[in-house]
Formats: sequence, C-alpha cells, structure tokens
Amino acid sequence: MRLILLGPPGAGKGTQAQRLVEKHGIPQLSTGDMLRAAVKAETEVGKRAKAVMDAGELVSDEIVNAIVAERIDQDDCARGFILDGYPRTLVQADAVADMLAERGMFLDVVIELVVDDKALVGRILKRAEEARAAGQPVRKDDNAEVFDERLREYYKKTAPLIGYYYANDLLQQVDGMAAMDDVTAQIEEIIAATLR
Ligand code: AP5
Repeated sequence: MRLILLGPPGAGKGTQAQRLVEKHGIPQLSTGDMLRAAVKAETEVGKRAKAVMDAGELVSDEIVNAIVAERIDQDDCARGFILDGYPRTLVQADAVADMLAERGMFLDVVIELVVDDKALVGRILKRAEEARAAGQPVRKDDNAEVFDERLREYYKKTAPLIGYYYANDLLQQVDGMAAMDDVTAQIEEIIAATLR
C-alpha cells in the first residue's frame, strides 16, 4: 500500500502516519523528519535546508525529490509506504508520479486531513509547550510567527494538490478535527475500501 497524507501544518499527518506504521508494518516517509535529521547531522542538505525550514518556507523541490527517490529504493519500502508531508508542490507531485512509474509502482490513495485552520496554531503551541516541559528540544518552527508562514506556504504551494489528486481520482477526505482515534478509524475505513 502506498498512500499520501495531505494537510496543513499541525493537521495530524505525523500522528496518523505513526499509527499506520504500527498497524500495517510499512514505513512512514516524513520529509520533515528526514530534513530535520540532515540539519542535526549538519550534512550538505541540512546546511542548505536549515534557514528555509526555520523561516517556515519550503525547501527546494530538487532537494526533497532526491531524498525521497533515494529512500523509496530501500528494502523496507518494497511492501509500500506512507508519505507524510510529501509531495508539497505540484512539481513534487509530478516527480513522485514519475518515480513510482519508473519502478512499476502506483499510489493507492491520497488522504486529506480536513481541519479548521484556527485550531492548528493551538496544537502547534501545545506541542512546543509539552516538549519544553519534558526537557526535549522544541522545533524551531513551532511558534506562532513561523506557523503563519508555514500556513501561507501551504495555501500557496500545497493546497493545489487537493485539486490535482481529486482530478486523478485518488483523493479521499477525513475530518481531521475529530478525536485522534476517530481520525484513525476514518483512515482505516478508507484503506479497507481502497484495498478491497
Ligand atoms: P513537517 O515536519 O512536514 O511539518 P508540517 O507539515 O508543518 O507538519 P507538522 O509536523 O507540524 O504537523 P502534522 O500534520 O504532522 O501534525 P502532527 O501529527 O505532528 O515540515 C517541516 C518543514 O520541513 C516545512 O515547513 C519545510 O520547511 C520542510 N519540508 C518538509 N517536507 C517538505 C517538502 N515535501 N517540500 C519542501 N519542504 C519540506 O500533530 C500536531 C500536533 O497536534 C501534535 O501535538 C499532535 O499531538 C496534535 N494532534 C494531532 N492530531 C490531533 C487531533 N485529531 N486532535 C487534537 N490534537 C491532535
């Protein structure tokens, strides 16, 4: 199974991806996590991405497409994967379609977490607060100012993918404002129907 979780920052993509990993035994490919790991390791990619991420903007298509192309060739992706936070632009959407076609693979479904934008900043600030309280590092982009820019980037560059995948008959939507377990149940229903 190969699926994309689509939604604005704080929509719950990472939370739901982790639950899918546990249930279905396929890996979560989060470009955000991969980029943060590169920043931490101070690789060339990390150095190029850091300032852009801290400002809440999108890293270049060229960088993220290369990261994903390399990742999906690893053995653990043979049975499928969950794309979390990728693709995020129309160029990335075309790139992943080409990547999969070249490997004789296809996407099963794209699941959009439909949320109320006004609630999102609250989730992000709560996450930052919880990390701080636990003595863990707080994401540099988890504050109200950078969040505004992340949301703007989403509407400028990522929201057009909703139409793109609708037109490709791949889009399914869930209520991302429901409780986490309810969101998971909605996603599982879609997966069951898709694989039937
Ligand atoms: P990335 O790491 O992908 O961050 P994001 O998309 O902004 O998303 P978040 O991780 O903040 O939110 P999420 O939707 O995963 O929600 P989560 O489950 O964590 O990207 C970071 C940056 O990297 C980008 O800004 C960009 O610079 C760069 N980047 C990454 N991918 C890129 C790409 N493809 N192209 C270019 N640049 C790229 O939940 C958030 C909080 O809400 C949690 O505390 C959670 O507990 C809570 N929560 C979740 N679900 C619920 C619920 N149903 N009810 C109540 N609370 C909930």
